[in-house]
Amino acid sequence: MQERDVIIIGAGAAGLMCAISAGSRGKSVAVLDHANKVGKKILMSGGGRCNFTNYYTEPTNFLSGNEHFCKSALSRFTQWDFIGLVEKHGIPYHEKKLGQLFCDNKAKDIVNMLLVECEAVNSEVRTHCSVEKVERQGSGFLLSTNQGKWTCSSLVIATGGLSIPTMGATGFGYDIARQFGLKTLDTTAGLVPFTLTPNLLEQFEGLSGTSADASVSCNGTHFRENILFTHRGLSGPSILQISSYWRPGDTVEINLFPDIDLYEHLKLQQKERPKSHINTILAETLTKKLADRLADLWFSEMKDKPLAELSNDALQTVATQCQSWQLKPTGTEGYRTAEVTLGGVDTDEVSSKTFESKKVPGLYFIGEVLDVTGHLGGFNFQWAWASGHACGQEL
Ligand code: FDA
Repeated sequence: MQERDVIIIGAGAAGLMCAISAGSRGKSVAVLDHANKVGKKILMSGGGRCNFTNYYTEPTNFLSGNEHFCKSALSRFTQWDFIGLVEKHGIPYHEKKLGQLFCDNKAKDIVNMLLVECEAVNSEVRTHCSVEKVERQGSGFLLSTNQGKWTCSSLVIATGGLSIPTMGATGFGYDIARQFGLKTLDTTAGLVPFTLTPNLLEQFEGLSGTSADASVSCNGTHFRENILFTHRGLSGPSILQISSYWRPGDTVEINLFPDIDLYEHLKLQQKERPKSHINTILAETLTKKLADRLADLWFSEMKDKPLAELSNDALQTVATQCQSWQLKPTGTEGYRTAEVTLGGVDTDEVSSKTFESKKVPGLYFIGEVLDVTGHLGGFNFQWAWASGHACGQEL
Protein backbone atom coordinates (compact mmCIF):
# COMPACT_ATOMS: atom_id res chain seq x y z
CA MET A 1 0.00 0.00 0.00
CA GLN A 2 1.41 3.37 -1.06
CA GLU A 3 0.30 6.47 0.82
CA ARG A 4 0.38 10.03 -0.48
CA ASP A 5 -1.18 13.33 0.53
CA VAL A 6 -2.18 13.89 -3.06
CA ILE A 7 -2.73 11.56 -6.01
CA ILE A 8 -3.24 13.11 -9.41
CA ILE A 9 -4.64 10.90 -12.17
CA GLY A 10 -3.36 12.13 -15.55
CA ALA A 11 0.17 13.34 -16.28
CA GLY A 12 -0.81 15.87 -18.91
CA ALA A 13 -0.53 19.64 -18.80
CA ALA A 14 -2.90 20.22 -15.87
CA GLY A 15 -1.80 17.20 -13.83
CA LEU A 16 1.92 17.98 -14.03
CA MET A 17 1.37 21.64 -13.19
CA CYS A 18 -0.75 20.65 -10.20
CA ALA A 19 1.99 18.25 -9.04
CA ILE A 20 4.53 21.09 -9.16
CA SER A 21 2.22 23.46 -7.33
CA ALA A 22 1.24 20.98 -4.57
CA GLY A 23 4.77 19.57 -4.27
CA SER A 24 6.22 23.05 -3.78
CA ARG A 25 4.00 23.35 -0.70
CA GLY A 26 5.53 20.23 0.83
CA LYS A 27 2.75 17.78 -0.06
CA SER A 28 3.69 14.22 -0.95
CA VAL A 29 2.40 13.79 -4.50
CA ALA A 30 2.13 10.96 -7.02
CA VAL A 31 0.92 11.48 -10.59
CA LEU A 32 -0.42 8.31 -12.21
CA ASP A 33 -0.88 7.96 -15.96
CA HIS A 34 -1.83 4.89 -17.97
CA ALA A 35 0.12 6.03 -21.05
CA ASN A 36 3.68 4.93 -21.84
CA LYS A 37 4.91 8.53 -21.60
CA VAL A 38 3.75 11.75 -20.03
CA GLY A 39 2.35 14.83 -21.75
CA LYS A 40 1.63 13.21 -25.10
CA LYS A 41 -0.70 16.03 -26.14
CA ILE A 42 1.93 18.60 -25.25
CA LEU A 43 4.38 16.72 -27.46
CA MET A 44 2.05 16.65 -30.46
CA SER A 45 0.70 20.17 -29.98
CA GLY A 46 1.41 23.15 -32.17
CA GLY A 47 2.84 20.97 -34.93
CA GLY A 48 5.45 19.64 -32.45
CA ARG A 49 6.38 23.11 -31.16
CA CYS A 50 3.60 23.52 -28.54
CA ASN A 51 1.65 26.76 -28.59
CA PHE A 52 2.02 26.90 -24.80
CA THR A 53 0.18 30.13 -24.02
CA ASN A 54 -1.11 33.37 -25.50
CA TYR A 55 -0.07 36.94 -24.63
CA TYR A 56 -3.70 38.04 -24.81
CA THR A 57 -5.37 35.41 -22.62
CA GLU A 58 -8.69 36.69 -21.26
CA PRO A 59 -11.72 34.91 -19.78
CA THR A 60 -13.56 35.75 -23.02
CA ASN A 61 -11.31 33.24 -24.81
CA PHE A 62 -13.13 30.37 -23.09
CA LEU A 63 -16.46 28.59 -23.59
CA SER A 64 -18.21 27.18 -20.54
CA GLY A 65 -21.70 26.81 -19.11
CA ASN A 66 -20.49 29.35 -16.53
CA GLU A 67 -18.50 32.09 -18.23
CA HIS A 68 -17.21 33.36 -14.86
CA PHE A 69 -15.79 30.03 -13.68
CA CYS A 70 -12.38 30.38 -15.33
CA LYS A 71 -11.68 33.91 -14.07
CA SER A 72 -10.24 33.16 -10.64
CA ALA A 73 -7.64 30.59 -11.73
CA LEU A 74 -6.65 32.56 -14.84
CA SER A 75 -5.98 35.61 -12.69
CA ARG A 76 -3.93 33.68 -10.13
CA PHE A 77 -1.63 32.00 -12.66
CA THR A 78 -1.40 34.11 -15.77
CA GLN A 79 0.29 33.72 -19.13
CA TRP A 80 3.10 35.86 -17.67
CA ASP A 81 3.64 33.35 -14.86
CA PHE A 82 4.00 30.52 -17.36
CA ILE A 83 6.28 32.60 -19.59
CA GLY A 84 8.39 33.27 -16.47
CA LEU A 85 8.74 29.52 -15.93
CA VAL A 86 9.69 28.96 -19.58
CA GLU A 87 12.31 31.72 -19.34
CA LYS A 88 13.66 30.38 -16.03
CA HIS A 89 14.43 27.14 -17.90
CA GLY A 90 16.04 29.03 -20.79
CA ILE A 91 13.59 27.62 -23.33
CA PRO A 92 13.69 29.69 -26.51
CA TYR A 93 10.27 30.74 -27.82
CA HIS A 94 8.66 33.15 -30.21
CA GLU A 95 5.32 34.76 -30.99
CA LYS A 96 3.97 33.29 -34.21
CA LYS A 97 0.93 35.54 -34.61
CA LEU A 98 -1.97 36.91 -32.57
CA GLY A 99 -0.06 36.51 -29.29
CA GLN A 100 0.47 32.77 -29.80
CA LEU A 101 3.72 31.62 -28.18
CA PHE A 102 5.56 28.58 -29.54
CA CYS A 103 8.83 26.85 -28.64
CA ASP A 104 11.62 27.65 -31.09
CA ASN A 105 12.77 24.05 -30.88
CA LYS A 106 10.54 21.22 -29.70
CA ALA A 107 7.46 20.77 -27.52
CA LYS A 108 9.60 18.29 -25.59
CA ASP A 109 11.29 21.32 -23.98
CA ILE A 110 8.00 22.03 -22.17
CA VAL A 111 7.52 18.42 -21.02
CA ASN A 112 11.13 18.26 -19.80
CA MET A 113 10.65 21.54 -17.94
CA LEU A 114 7.56 20.19 -16.18
CA LEU A 115 9.34 16.95 -15.24
CA VAL A 116 12.39 18.81 -13.90
CA GLU A 117 10.06 20.98 -11.80
CA CYS A 118 8.22 17.90 -10.52
CA GLU A 119 11.48 16.26 -9.54
CA ALA A 120 12.68 19.41 -7.77
CA VAL A 121 9.69 19.23 -5.42
CA ASN A 122 9.75 15.42 -5.11
CA SER A 123 6.48 14.89 -6.94
CA GLU A 124 6.61 11.38 -8.36
CA VAL A 125 5.33 10.70 -11.89
CA ARG A 126 4.35 7.14 -12.83
CA THR A 127 3.54 5.98 -16.36
CA HIS A 128 1.95 2.66 -17.42
CA CYS A 129 -0.29 2.94 -14.35
CA SER A 130 -3.93 2.01 -14.98
CA VAL A 131 -6.39 2.94 -12.28
CA GLU A 132 -8.89 0.11 -12.02
CA LYS A 133 -11.03 1.29 -9.12
CA VAL A 134 -11.47 4.39 -6.98
CA GLU A 135 -13.22 4.09 -3.62
CA ARG A 136 -13.88 6.39 -0.71
CA GLN A 137 -11.88 5.39 2.37
CA GLY A 138 -12.70 7.49 5.42
CA SER A 139 -12.17 11.09 4.38
CA GLY A 140 -9.71 10.01 1.67
CA PHE A 141 -9.56 7.63 -1.27
CA LEU A 142 -8.33 4.12 -2.04
CA LEU A 143 -7.12 3.43 -5.57
CA SER A 144 -6.63 -0.04 -7.05
CA THR A 145 -4.18 0.04 -9.94
CA ASN A 146 -2.04 -2.34 -11.97
CA GLN A 147 0.81 -1.00 -9.82
CA GLY A 148 -0.80 -1.88 -6.49
CA LYS A 149 -3.05 -0.03 -4.06
CA TRP A 150 -2.64 3.62 -3.20
CA THR A 151 -4.30 5.85 -0.64
CA CYS A 152 -4.51 9.62 -0.49
CA SER A 153 -6.40 12.35 1.28
CA SER A 154 -6.80 14.42 -1.90
CA LEU A 155 -7.55 12.94 -5.30
CA VAL A 156 -7.17 15.16 -8.38
CA ILE A 157 -8.70 14.11 -11.70
CA ALA A 158 -6.68 15.55 -14.59
CA THR A 159 -7.46 13.03 -17.30
CA GLY A 160 -8.38 15.57 -19.97
CA GLY A 161 -11.01 15.19 -22.70
CA LEU A 162 -11.87 12.67 -25.40
CA SER A 163 -9.94 14.06 -28.33
CA ILE A 164 -7.32 11.86 -30.04
CA PRO A 165 -8.16 8.52 -28.36
CA THR A 166 -5.05 7.01 -29.99
CA MET A 167 -2.99 9.27 -27.68
CA GLY A 168 -4.57 7.80 -24.54
CA ALA A 169 -7.62 10.02 -24.16
CA THR A 170 -10.44 8.37 -22.21
CA GLY A 171 -13.73 9.28 -20.56
CA PHE A 172 -12.28 8.23 -17.21
CA GLY A 173 -12.71 11.65 -15.61
CA TYR A 174 -16.39 11.79 -16.53
CA ASP A 175 -16.91 8.25 -15.18
CA ILE A 176 -15.34 9.21 -11.85
CA ALA A 177 -17.50 12.34 -11.69
CA ARG A 178 -20.63 10.26 -12.28
CA GLN A 179 -19.49 7.56 -9.81
CA PHE A 180 -19.42 10.22 -7.10
CA GLY A 181 -22.76 11.75 -8.13
CA LEU A 182 -21.42 14.83 -9.93
CA LYS A 183 -23.22 16.17 -12.97
CA THR A 184 -21.47 16.03 -16.35
CA LEU A 185 -22.55 17.96 -19.42
CA ASP A 186 -22.77 16.35 -22.86
CA THR A 187 -19.44 16.37 -24.67
CA THR A 188 -18.69 17.20 -28.30
CA ALA A 189 -15.56 17.62 -30.36
CA GLY A 190 -14.25 21.21 -30.55
CA LEU A 191 -11.55 22.91 -32.64
CA VAL A 192 -12.21 20.34 -35.32
CA PRO A 193 -12.46 20.37 -39.15
CA PHE A 194 -15.86 20.25 -40.86
CA THR A 195 -16.89 17.46 -43.20
CA LEU A 196 -18.95 18.26 -46.32
CA THR A 197 -21.49 16.47 -48.53
CA PRO A 198 -20.05 14.26 -51.31
CA ASN A 199 -21.53 16.76 -53.75
CA LEU A 200 -19.62 19.70 -52.25
CA LEU A 201 -16.45 17.61 -51.98
CA GLU A 202 -16.73 16.87 -55.66
CA GLN A 203 -17.17 20.57 -56.43
CA PHE A 204 -14.05 21.43 -54.44
CA GLU A 205 -11.97 18.52 -55.73
CA GLY A 206 -8.41 19.58 -56.43
CA LEU A 207 -8.61 22.55 -54.05
CA SER A 208 -7.17 20.52 -51.17
CA GLY A 209 -4.38 22.59 -49.60
CA THR A 210 -5.82 25.90 -50.89
CA SER A 211 -6.47 28.51 -48.22
CA ALA A 212 -8.10 31.92 -48.03
CA ASP A 213 -8.27 34.67 -45.45
CA ALA A 214 -11.92 34.67 -44.40
CA SER A 215 -14.31 35.72 -41.70
CA VAL A 216 -16.46 32.78 -40.60
CA SER A 217 -19.54 33.19 -38.45
CA CYS A 218 -22.09 30.99 -36.72
CA ASN A 219 -24.49 31.50 -33.84
CA GLY A 220 -23.53 35.13 -33.31
CA THR A 221 -19.76 34.58 -33.15
CA HIS A 222 -17.20 35.16 -35.86
CA PHE A 223 -13.49 34.51 -36.39
CA ARG A 224 -11.16 36.00 -38.96
CA GLU A 225 -8.21 33.87 -40.06
CA ASN A 226 -7.54 31.37 -42.83
CA ILE A 227 -9.88 28.66 -44.04
CA LEU A 228 -8.30 25.61 -45.66
CA PHE A 229 -9.84 23.21 -48.18
CA THR A 230 -9.02 19.57 -47.36
CA HIS A 231 -9.79 16.13 -48.80
CA ARG A 232 -12.61 15.73 -46.29
CA GLY A 233 -13.99 19.25 -46.13
CA LEU A 234 -12.86 22.49 -44.56
CA SER A 235 -10.26 23.20 -41.91
CA GLY A 236 -7.89 26.07 -41.06
CA PRO A 237 -7.92 28.29 -37.97
CA SER A 238 -11.18 30.14 -38.75
CA ILE A 239 -13.02 26.87 -39.25
CA LEU A 240 -11.52 25.20 -36.16
CA GLN A 241 -12.50 28.21 -34.05
CA ILE A 242 -16.08 28.39 -35.30
CA SER A 243 -16.51 24.60 -34.95
CA SER A 244 -16.67 25.10 -31.17
CA TYR A 245 -19.78 27.25 -31.68
CA TRP A 246 -21.38 25.10 -34.38
CA ARG A 247 -24.07 22.51 -33.68
CA PRO A 248 -25.30 19.78 -36.08
CA GLY A 249 -27.70 21.27 -38.61
CA ASP A 250 -26.31 24.81 -38.31
CA THR A 251 -25.19 26.79 -41.33
CA VAL A 252 -21.96 28.78 -41.22
CA GLU A 253 -21.51 32.00 -43.13
CA ILE A 254 -18.18 32.67 -44.82
CA ASN A 255 -16.99 36.07 -46.01
CA LEU A 256 -14.14 35.57 -48.47
CA PHE A 257 -13.57 39.34 -48.79
CA PRO A 258 -13.66 40.47 -45.16
CA ASP A 259 -11.87 43.79 -45.76
CA ILE A 260 -14.05 45.33 -48.45
CA ASP A 261 -17.59 45.95 -49.62
CA LEU A 262 -17.31 43.65 -52.64
CA TYR A 263 -20.34 45.08 -54.43
CA GLU A 264 -18.90 48.62 -54.31
CA HIS A 265 -15.51 47.25 -55.32
CA LEU A 266 -16.98 45.44 -58.34
CA LYS A 267 -18.89 48.56 -59.41
CA LEU A 268 -15.68 50.57 -59.23
CA GLN A 269 -13.78 47.95 -61.24
CA GLN A 270 -16.61 47.92 -63.78
CA LYS A 271 -16.09 51.65 -64.27
CA GLU A 272 -12.27 51.55 -64.25
CA ARG A 273 -11.63 48.23 -66.01
CA PRO A 274 -14.80 47.42 -67.98
CA LYS A 275 -13.11 44.70 -70.03
CA SER A 276 -11.93 42.59 -67.10
CA HIS A 277 -13.72 39.46 -65.94
CA ILE A 278 -15.16 38.44 -62.59
CA ASN A 279 -12.57 35.73 -61.90
CA THR A 280 -9.73 38.18 -62.60
CA ILE A 281 -11.08 40.52 -59.92
CA LEU A 282 -11.67 37.65 -57.47
CA ALA A 283 -8.14 36.33 -58.11
CA GLU A 284 -6.68 39.63 -56.89
CA THR A 285 -7.72 38.59 -53.37
CA LEU A 286 -8.19 34.80 -53.58
CA THR A 287 -5.72 32.40 -55.16
CA LYS A 288 -6.24 32.02 -58.91
CA LYS A 289 -7.17 28.39 -58.46
CA LEU A 290 -9.89 29.21 -55.94
CA ALA A 291 -11.17 32.23 -57.87
CA ASP A 292 -11.46 30.19 -61.08
CA ARG A 293 -13.22 27.33 -59.31
CA LEU A 294 -15.70 29.56 -57.49
CA ALA A 295 -16.43 31.50 -60.68
CA ASP A 296 -17.09 28.16 -62.45
CA LEU A 297 -19.33 26.92 -59.67
CA TRP A 298 -21.20 30.06 -58.76
CA PHE A 299 -21.11 32.44 -61.73
CA SER A 300 -20.71 30.23 -64.78
CA GLU A 301 -23.12 32.34 -66.86
CA MET A 302 -21.22 35.54 -66.03
CA LYS A 303 -17.63 34.45 -66.08
CA ASP A 304 -17.04 34.83 -69.81
CA LYS A 305 -18.60 38.27 -69.99
CA PRO A 306 -16.63 41.47 -69.38
CA LEU A 307 -17.68 43.45 -66.31
CA ALA A 308 -19.21 46.12 -68.56
CA GLU A 309 -21.90 43.65 -69.60
CA LEU A 310 -22.92 42.72 -66.06
CA SER A 311 -25.91 44.36 -64.41
CA ASN A 312 -25.87 45.75 -60.90
CA ASP A 313 -28.02 42.80 -59.87
CA ALA A 314 -25.42 40.42 -61.25
CA LEU A 315 -22.63 42.20 -59.36
CA GLN A 316 -24.76 42.09 -56.22
CA THR A 317 -25.23 38.33 -56.68
CA VAL A 318 -21.46 37.86 -56.89
CA ALA A 319 -20.87 40.02 -53.83
CA THR A 320 -23.53 38.28 -51.75
CA GLN A 321 -22.32 34.81 -52.69
CA CYS A 322 -18.67 35.65 -51.89
CA GLN A 323 -19.34 37.65 -48.76
CA SER A 324 -22.23 35.64 -47.29
CA TRP A 325 -21.44 32.15 -48.52
CA GLN A 326 -23.89 29.88 -46.68
CA LEU A 327 -22.32 26.51 -46.00
CA LYS A 328 -23.94 23.60 -44.18
CA PRO A 329 -21.33 21.10 -42.96
CA THR A 330 -22.50 17.50 -42.67
CA GLY A 331 -20.59 17.18 -39.42
CA THR A 332 -17.09 17.33 -38.02
CA GLU A 333 -14.16 14.94 -38.13
CA GLY A 334 -14.98 14.18 -34.47
CA TYR A 335 -12.67 13.27 -31.61
CA ARG A 336 -10.28 11.53 -34.01
CA THR A 337 -8.77 14.89 -35.01
CA ALA A 338 -10.38 17.41 -32.60
CA GLU A 339 -8.02 19.47 -30.48
CA VAL A 340 -10.43 19.69 -27.57
CA THR A 341 -13.61 18.39 -25.98
CA LEU A 342 -16.47 20.76 -25.25
CA GLY A 343 -18.60 20.04 -22.18
CA GLY A 344 -17.51 17.70 -19.40
CA VAL A 345 -17.71 17.96 -15.62
CA ASP A 346 -20.25 20.67 -14.80
CA THR A 347 -18.48 23.68 -13.30
CA ASP A 348 -21.42 24.09 -10.88
CA GLU A 349 -20.14 20.99 -9.12
CA VAL A 350 -16.67 22.41 -8.42
CA SER A 351 -15.25 25.44 -6.57
CA SER A 352 -13.66 27.89 -9.02
CA LYS A 353 -11.09 28.75 -6.35
CA THR A 354 -9.98 25.31 -5.15
CA PHE A 355 -11.37 22.99 -7.88
CA GLU A 356 -12.71 20.76 -5.10
CA SER A 357 -16.01 19.04 -5.61
CA LYS A 358 -18.77 20.74 -3.61
CA LYS A 359 -20.34 17.33 -2.90
CA VAL A 360 -17.26 15.17 -2.30
CA PRO A 361 -14.59 16.82 -0.13
CA GLY A 362 -11.09 15.80 -1.20
CA LEU A 363 -12.03 15.16 -4.85
CA TYR A 364 -10.74 17.71 -7.40
CA PHE A 365 -11.13 18.21 -11.17
CA ILE A 366 -8.74 20.33 -13.29
CA GLY A 367 -7.94 21.02 -16.93
CA GLU A 368 -9.93 19.93 -19.94
CA VAL A 369 -12.06 17.36 -18.09
CA LEU A 370 -14.03 20.34 -16.81
CA ASP A 371 -16.58 22.19 -18.92
CA VAL A 372 -14.09 24.91 -19.85
CA THR A 373 -12.77 25.04 -23.43
CA GLY A 374 -10.43 27.61 -24.87
CA HIS A 375 -10.22 29.11 -28.32
CA LEU A 376 -7.41 28.05 -30.62
CA GLY A 377 -4.12 29.81 -29.89
CA GLY A 378 -2.55 28.52 -26.65
CA PHE A 379 -5.58 29.17 -24.47
CA ASN A 380 -6.27 25.52 -23.67
CA PHE A 381 -2.80 25.02 -22.26
CA GLN A 382 -3.10 28.25 -20.30
CA TRP A 383 -6.29 26.86 -18.75
CA ALA A 384 -4.49 23.61 -17.90
CA TRP A 385 -1.57 25.49 -16.28
CA ALA A 386 -3.85 27.92 -14.42
CA SER A 387 -6.33 25.36 -13.09
CA GLY A 388 -3.51 22.95 -12.17
CA HIS A 389 -1.60 25.64 -10.33
CA ALA A 390 -4.63 27.03 -8.49
CA CYS A 391 -5.72 23.58 -7.35
CA GLY A 392 -2.20 22.68 -6.18
CA GLN A 393 -2.15 25.76 -3.97
CA GLU A 394 -5.26 24.57 -2.15
CA LEU A 395 -4.51 20.88 -1.59
P1 FDA B 1 -4.25 16.10 -21.24
O1 FDA B 1 -5.02 15.44 -22.31
O2 FDA B 1 -3.08 16.92 -21.59
O3 FDA B 1 -3.73 15.01 -20.21
C1 FDA B 1 -4.55 13.98 -19.74
C2 FDA B 1 -3.66 12.85 -19.28
O4 FDA B 1 -4.48 11.88 -18.63
C3 FDA B 1 -2.96 12.14 -20.41
O5 FDA B 1 -1.58 12.04 -20.13
C4 FDA B 1 -3.64 10.77 -20.47
O6 FDA B 1 -2.75 9.74 -20.86
C5 FDA B 1 -4.08 10.61 -19.04
N1 FDA B 1 -5.23 9.71 -18.88
C6 FDA B 1 -6.39 9.73 -19.57
N2 FDA B 1 -7.18 8.73 -19.13
C7 FDA B 1 -6.51 8.10 -18.15
C8 FDA B 1 -6.82 7.00 -17.32
N3 FDA B 1 -7.97 6.33 -17.44
N4 FDA B 1 -5.90 6.61 -16.40
C9 FDA B 1 -4.71 7.27 -16.29
N5 FDA B 1 -4.37 8.32 -17.05
C10 FDA B 1 -5.27 8.74 -17.96
N6 FDA B 1 -3.74 23.52 -26.75
C11 FDA B 1 -3.02 24.67 -26.75
O7 FDA B 1 -3.23 25.50 -25.88
N7 FDA B 1 -2.05 24.87 -27.69
C12 FDA B 1 -1.77 23.97 -28.67
O8 FDA B 1 -0.85 24.15 -29.46
C13 FDA B 1 -2.58 22.81 -28.73
N8 FDA B 1 -2.41 21.89 -29.73
C14 FDA B 1 -3.11 20.73 -29.71
C15 FDA B 1 -2.90 19.79 -30.74
C16 FDA B 1 -3.60 18.60 -30.73
C17 FDA B 1 -3.39 17.63 -31.86
C18 FDA B 1 -4.49 18.32 -29.66
C19 FDA B 1 -5.22 17.01 -29.59
C20 FDA B 1 -4.70 19.24 -28.65
C21 FDA B 1 -4.04 20.46 -28.67
N9 FDA B 1 -4.25 21.42 -27.69
C22 FDA B 1 -3.53 22.59 -27.72
C23 FDA B 1 -5.20 21.18 -26.58
C24 FDA B 1 -4.40 20.74 -25.33
O9 FDA B 1 -3.53 19.70 -25.70
C25 FDA B 1 -5.34 20.25 -24.22
O10 FDA B 1 -6.36 21.20 -24.00
C26 FDA B 1 -4.55 20.03 -22.94
O11 FDA B 1 -3.57 19.05 -23.16
C27 FDA B 1 -5.46 19.61 -21.81
O12 FDA B 1 -4.67 19.35 -20.69
P2 FDA B 1 -5.13 18.28 -19.60
O13 FDA B 1 -3.98 18.13 -18.67
O14 FDA B 1 -6.45 18.65 -19.05
O15 FDA B 1 -5.34 16.93 -20.42
